[in-house]
Amino acid sequence: MLFLDSSDPREIKDIFAWGVVKGVTTNPLIIAREAGNVDLEQRIREVIAVSIGPVSVELTSETEETMMEEALRYHAWAPSRIVIKVPFSETGLRVTHALAAINIATNVTCLMNFNQAYLAALAGGTYVSIFSGRVRDMGYDVRPIIATTRAQLDREKLGAQIIVGSVRHLMDVNEALEQGSHIVTVTPTILRKMLHNPKTDETIREFNAAWANRGR
Ligand code: E4P
Repeated sequence: MLFLDSSDPREIKDIFAWGVVKGVTTNPLIIAREAGNVDLEQRIREVIAVSIGPVSVELTSETEETMMEEALRYHAWAPSRIVIKVPFSETGLRVTHALAAINIATNVTCLMNFNQAYLAALAGGTYVSIFSGRVRDMGYDVRPIIATTRAQLDREKLGAQIIVGSVRHLMDVNEALEQGSHIVTVTPTILRKMLHNPKTDETIREFNAAWANRGR
């Protein structure tokens, strides 16, 4: 399954019309880059209006108390749609566990290895986000991290679903799915690259030219 890694309502509206993405992930860096110092609630409400499915909104505070307050505030914007994106840490695990206890969906984020993903799933995370590109930036192979996490989730029948994010190349998408990721979250740029193949374009041109010239 694919999610869209964007906070741009125009892009999101356009791409959801293709029928291929089933949720949205945002993070503070994406929102700051795409919209500067926009009002977060207004931006997320715009995203919700033009999409379907879960919309991840990331916490930016750092104590358990302020993270819980922030999470409850975001959740109230659209209880059936908002997923609280919790940065991974000991405090993040506490918050994930507390939110799971009151049935608020979470996406535990910034995971770089199996151990973190496993802890996030054990704490009750709805989604666990493994950062493919950033793992590779460190010189590690992300494929066994995804495969081992998926195998463990299945073995223990943990409810969490893996999202692979930080996707930089088309091959990252293919590999994440092959290794058992439930979801890959892709930027509009990556998704548009998935459309194109020069042989497809050439073939369509050939067919249409033949049709236009038929009988001549
Ligand atoms: C995933 O949920 C994140 O929003 C995102 O994919 C992070 O990717 P980056 O490494 O490009 O910041």
